[in-house]
Amino acid sequence: MADKQKVSEYYTRPPTLGKWESFRQFLWNSETGQFLGRTGASWAKILLFYLIFYSVLAGFFAAMLAVFYQTLDARKPKWQLSSSLIGDNPGLGFRPMPPESNVESTLIWYKSSDKGNVQYWQNQLKLFLTKYNKDNKLQTVEPCTPFQNATAPGKVCDVSMTKSWHPCLEETGFGFEDPKGGPCIFLKLNKIYNWVPEYYNSSNMPNDNTMSEHLKQDIINAEAANEHRLVWVTCEGENPADKENIGTLRYIPYRGFMSQYFPFQNQDGYLSPLVAVHFEEPKRGVLINIECKAWAKNIHHDRADKRGSVHFELMID
Ligand SMILES: *[C@@H]1O[C@H](CO)[C@@H](O)[C@H](O)[C@H]1NC(C)=O
Ligand SMILES: *[C@@H]1O[C@H](CO)[C@@H](O)[C@H](O)[C@H]1NC(C)=O
Repeated sequence: MADKQKVSEYYTRPPTLGKWESFRQFLWNSETGQFLGRTGASWAKILLFYLIFYSVLAGFFAAMLAVFYQTLDARKPKWQLSSSLIGDNPGLGFRPMPPESNVESTLIWYKSSDKGNVQYWQNQLKLFLTKYNKDNKLQTVEPCTPFQNATAPGKVCDVSMTKSWHPCLEETGFGFEDPKGGPCIFLKLNKIYNWVPEYYNSSNMPNDNTMSEHLKQDIINAEAANEHRLVWVTCEGENPADKENIGTLRYIPYRGFMSQYFPFQNQDGYLSPLVAVHFEEPKRGVLINIECKAWAKNIHHDRADKRGSVHFELMID
């Protein structure tokens, strides 16, 4: 002990070491028993410290996550309808969509006599309709009568494409190969949890000219037959020339999305209802601008915001 104290009284210049030597000493200093600059006990302490520190941190994080998950339900969104980000005004979408390479494009352009050319569009539709054409439907899917009220909780109404969808079927190429007629474009209302349409009837139609007289008459007629409980769909040419070129349209299976499919509550097997718009005799060789709208009292049309309506162009060579 005395010896050691004596030694430390003097300043002894450490032996000059080469780079390699000093590195080796850093790795393992046999004099002090230090490994990487720390003794075994020091390493043990620091490891213990970090072990406890991170365990506490992980525990805290897990506890917070558990509290957070307590407030969520896997089947329904926490924020619904107007309090949610997507809001309570559904958008309208169309299929088939143009190739992804051009995200901005809404142009459906094909040559009906060119098999390879129409194939892209037909494949897109086939893919989209796969879910609809499945043979083994889930137990929750039941046949419903048109315009019936909402189903029992957890049940959904079947959206089957029967022969009556002709010519908007795969067998007939969805109309794309028809040398005279035009294609079928499928429309779909975006799903919004718990959203129920406020159906138009003769007493709540808009007074201004936002709704065509033609549609108003259709609503009145449908109400008389007690068949007005649907989200109506209309498609028309945007400009006077387009209105002329678009020709007659047929809506399959019905003029809109019927009441039995609402509300969507994330039921197993739920499929959005579809309306296939068959362009029966569109003019060829010109570009036709088309706007389709969905009509219910609680759907507001905002083209910039892509709410309640959808725009696309059709060109058939
Ligand atoms: C659905 O319910 C409404 C009232 O809630 C009723 O007026 C209507 O007739 C019902 N429709 C059917 C098809 O049962
Ligand atoms: C029409 O719809 C409104 C709700 O938008 C409802 O209050 C009214 O009773 C309905 N009128 C008829 C005749 O069904």
